[in-house]
Amino acid sequence: MDIKEKIYFDNAASTPMLEEVMYEMIPYMRIAFGNPSSTHSFGRETKSAIEFSRKKIADMLKCKASEITFTSGGSEANNLAFYIAVNSLKVNAIITAKTEHKAVLNTARSYQEQIPVLYVDIDKNGIVDLDHLERLLAENPNSLVSLMHANNEIGTLHPIQKINALVSKYNCYFHTDAVQTFAHYPIDLSQLSNIHFLSVSAHKFHGPKGIGFLYIKKGTKSLSQIKGGPQERELRAGTENVSAIVGMTLAAELAYKDLEDRKATVLALREELKIKLLEHFPLIKFNGIQGENSLYTILNVSFPPSKSSDMLPFALDIKGIAVSAGSACSSGSTAFSHVLRAIGSRDDWPAIRISISHLNNSNEIDRLILALKEILLK
Ligand SMILES: Cc1ncc(COP(=O)(O)O)c(C=O)c1O
Repeated sequence: MDIKEKIYFDNAASTPMLEEVMYEMIPYMRIAFGNPSSTHSFGRETKSAIEFSRKKIADMLKCKASEITFTSGGSEANNLAFYIAVNSLKVNAIITAKTEHKAVLNTARSYQEQIPVLYVDIDKNGIVDLDHLERLLAENPNSLVSLMHANNEIGTLHPIQKINALVSKYNCYFHTDAVQTFAHYPIDLSQLSNIHFLSVSAHKFHGPKGIGFLYIKKGTKSLSQIKGGPQERELRAGTENVSAIVGMTLAAELAYKDLEDRKATVLALREELKIKLLEHFPLIKFNGIQGENSLYTILNVSFPPSKSSDMLPFALDIKGIAVSAGSACSSGSTAFSHVLRAIGSRDDWPAIRISISHLNNSNEIDRLILALKEILLK
């Protein structure tokens, strides 16, 4: 099938890079290619491109440029946050949830022989139980809380302001994986004074892959997980990916500029999709919280078990429509999603995640519905 005829509804896995972003990046590969650590003009030029980018990103988050450390993406940012918390801040416990992304869950697990890893209760919509979190915080002084801003599979948003206040009350540390929300929602770190770490990845907002950053609150005693040169204020050795940093920054600027318009477009498409799905498949169930505490880009839906619903993502793929079965980062795997298991979804009901961007349109929704009807109602 011609790529132009295909339909992409897997934007929580990755988004297409915008053309403007690509053109912004090219000169930093061909002309301004110097090593930012070099002291000659080639190096100074790329160094200043990095520092301009850092400042622009910091302005979006209302934090200081020195609080932004560029990484290879969300996974590395999460790993760095945990590394600093355990090895430099010497936290006594990690408190997280079973619905977190594997980049948090497996990182937390890698420390479980050193310190306890505790899981806060979540309800059937993926919402964190704040009373249980408070009890865990009271029982575990000097711990790291790692709870994501929005869940990448079911879209449930965590109340980060309330978590921030609780963590502050108990003088603990707070990491939030904002990979699915940065550049989709305005995040004001000046109002979230107890967030110590926040992770971001550019390919979730139409930027390049392999680039992201970790916000590290000023005054947090930190150390580098990747050893080597003094790049990134000695917090992440290795020659910086200059073109990707510049590309990520433009992608974020474009997203911020159009944030409300993009949000309105995606919300309208998601609403239309929900209505049309229910019209044709009245028995379906939506997973995760619905309404305003739900990330507007994601719709996770379970279908009643049948022979044809079993292989739904594959059957849609054959028709040229990309959706995800569970978490995108484990795509290709048909194992039941750890998030759906954690919220108690029935594992005999096959679920798909449809994730929408402002580049999708209503015609694509109709083609998705038609394909689902062909697969499920034949
Ligand atoms: C919530 C969340 N955290 C972390 C990651 C990993 O980010 P990256 O692909 O940049 O390593 C993803 C990617 O799917 C994600 O959705």
